[in-house]
Amino acid sequence: MSAGNAVMSGQERLQQVMQQMARDMDAAFDVALPVPDDVRGPFAEAMRYAAIGGGKRMRPLLVRGAGELFGLDQAQLLRVGVAVEAVHIYSLVHDDLPAMDDDDLRRGKPTVHRAYDEATAILVGDALQSLAFEILADPRTHKDAAVRCELVRLLAHAAGANGMVGGQVIDMAAETAPEDQPFDLATVTRLQQLKTGALIGFCIEAPAVMAHIPPEQRLGLRGYAHDIGLAFQIADDLLDVEGDADLAGKALGKDAAAGKQTFVSLLGVEQARRQAHMLVDQAKAHVQGYGDRAELLCALADYVIERDR
Ligand code: IPE
Ligand code: IPE
Ligand code: MG
Ligand code: MG
Ligand code: MG
Repeated sequence: MSAGNAVMSGQERLQQVMQQMARDMDAAFDVALPVPDDVRGPFAEAMRYAAIGGGKRMRPLLVRGAGELFGLDQAQLLRVGVAVEAVHIYSLVHDDLPAMDDDDLRRGKPTVHRAYDEATAILVGDALQSLAFEILADPRTHKDAAVRCELVRLLAHAAGANGMVGGQVIDMAAETAPEDQPFDLATVTRLQQLKTGALIGFCIEAPAVMAHIPPEQRLGLRGYAHDIGLAFQIADDLLDVEGDADLAGKALGKDAAAGKQTFVSLLGVEQARRQAHMLVDQAKAHVQGYGDRAELLCALADYVIERDR
């Protein structure tokens, strides 16, 4: 930056990067999801409905933030961001189905099964998941085939029964846990680490893989991802209790209505908020060694708990 320019704060830069990311994601999904001129046309429209417009795009932002630590190519980072966002959107579309949370609103508009139908919503999720792996395996994502293979393995692990899906399974069990044996803090923490934390972990680890950083040098990054993942979920639980549904673009108050134990029901609002702040401070400390290159990751860590949506 030239000397005459005012120095941008981390949060100001984050706002700019977020606006750019919103445009980049919409443009990438626009290209990735063309509408064929045949009977699949309405289905392709439903995929575009789910993927284009809305959402904080937190996961691609985390990929970009971690990519800045290693000076990685923006276009390649964006492809990895699209892949993880596709898995995330698939998880939301299925999470909203009547068999799961039965929600009518997502990202400020009717859920996919409401705007279309249940079969379409199931298939939209399925196809978005496949799209993610197609993108990762494409040579344009990274020239080294071993790196691409490792990205595929990591995302598959983060999305599956030992990751996001596993978390969703425990989450559903939380609803039916007997009243005299509600989930304790350790169980809820494990649930959230899988449900939300695993995909966030992928976002932070993938750029390290792309930069050929060996696993033993990724401990700080894993610490950051662990802490920010929990803080992110505590914020989601806090928003569910005291957020504004119009801003959130989804129904709130659902956790308590479903009798689910969350960080907030177990710790109370004040303690949950303190815990989230502590986790964010800890997350930032984990990446301190990267100096200025960690500016975006630090701004994202703050945003995770200050967000209103
Ligand atoms: C919501 O995720 C579901 C959780 C994992 C808590 P986000 O809060 O990232 O939702 P979008 O992507 O901004 O819509
Ligand atoms: C959904 O968690 C998380 C995944 C889809 C993996 P929630 O059910 O808490 O998310 P919201 O509150 O509906 O966004
Ligand atoms: Mg759910
Ligand atoms: Mg839900
Ligand atoms: Mg929630």
